[in-house]
Amino acid sequence: MEGSHENAEDENQIVTPWEVAAKEGGRIDYDKLIVKFGCQKLDQSIVQRVEKLTGKPAHVFLRRGVFFAHREFDKILDAFEKGENFYLYTGRGPSSEALHLGHLVPFMFTKYLQDAFKVPLVIQLTDDEKCMWKNLTIEESQRLARENAKDIIACGFDISRTFIFSDFDYVGGAFYKNMVRIAKCVTLNQVRAIFGFTGEDHIGKVSFPPVQAAPSFPSSFPHLFGDKNNLRCLIPCAIDQDPYFRMTRDVAPRIGCQKPSLIESLFFPALQGETGKMSASDSTTAIYVTDSAKDIKNKVNKYAFSGGGDTIENHRKFGANLEVDISVKYLSFFLEDDAELENIKQEYGAGRMLTGEVKKLLIEVLTNMVERHRKARAAVTDEMVDVFMSARPLPDMFG
Ligand code: TRP
Repeated sequence: MEGSHENAEDENQIVTPWEVAAKEGGRIDYDKLIVKFGCQKLDQSIVQRVEKLTGKPAHVFLRRGVFFAHREFDKILDAFEKGENFYLYTGRGPSSEALHLGHLVPFMFTKYLQDAFKVPLVIQLTDDEKCMWKNLTIEESQRLARENAKDIIACGFDISRTFIFSDFDYVGGAFYKNMVRIAKCVTLNQVRAIFGFTGEDHIGKVSFPPVQAAPSFPSSFPHLFGDKNNLRCLIPCAIDQDPYFRMTRDVAPRIGCQKPSLIESLFFPALQGETGKMSASDSTTAIYVTDSAKDIKNKVNKYAFSGGGDTIENHRKFGANLEVDISVKYLSFFLEDDAELENIKQEYGAGRMLTGEVKKLLIEVLTNMVERHRKARAAVTDEMVDVFMSARPLPDMFG
């Protein structure tokens, strides 16, 4: 098995697909996570290669290290350089009605990759997963999947290159055959070690990993890829999903498939500070795409953790601690202008700019972003959802 056999628990941090926490209010140590999981650091030379191969400037998330780790992303680039194609695979577990900004990060990035490389994309909505992990009925999970699909489509995916599917609707046929091939290669001891399952977990959970693994193989989508069984797959995701794909990559050669490549992001921090990822159940920890301008203003002003000095005098004297300041963190995700961001960091870090001024800028950026999303989502019709979610050939997907 690549990397660690254990689930990523140590004294200081826990990172699994279901739990992300740093102990005692500490921050996630991402370098340690790379070592623990056995992935590679995404360095500047890869970013430059992406720019060269696509002829487009790298996405902010790539330039600024939001996507900071990978597994054999360089192999995708090698193949692309030689004129080979690949496809993208990402997903979402539909556990809540409204997405927060952290949920949008992988989709915004995937949209950039789709446009830059002009490749097809499959998006898995794991309504089955959320039904098993959260206290949701099958019907409610399916409803949420469709609602979430609208938010995903609003990110701007190209309908001629994108297939979105719900597990409850699509699993079967070739996809199911791959699930069984995968399942036969993984023992109970292995999933216990990778995911931390215990004897108390119901067997639905234990049986789920092959469902998330199967889309990594092109033969799970005969209507898209026919017999192109060697097509490479690139998976953009947050690093908490790594355990699924560690398992997938281990199994791949044993069932005669290519290992999928991964490009992995940091977690989007909660407003209260960088100790884990945002919680969908506590609405004060996150900005939602459904928040009004007033909600955004209140939340940022009230909850966004400040690295500024405790008094104006101290702030002027010592400056802000940019490392822990959430407004600066959020701006570094969403403020595209590099020069403007640099200027804010300098002025704020030196104590010439106050927290309130930085928050004001952040409120502006987030309000615009949420407003843009709201408009885009309102333009998504039921017919569009039906088309995105129908198993159809995509004749121009590499065009
Ligand atoms: N398990 C993921 C979640 O809970 C959803 C998911 C399925 C996914 N397939 C994926 C995420 C591939 C990233 C990449 O959100």
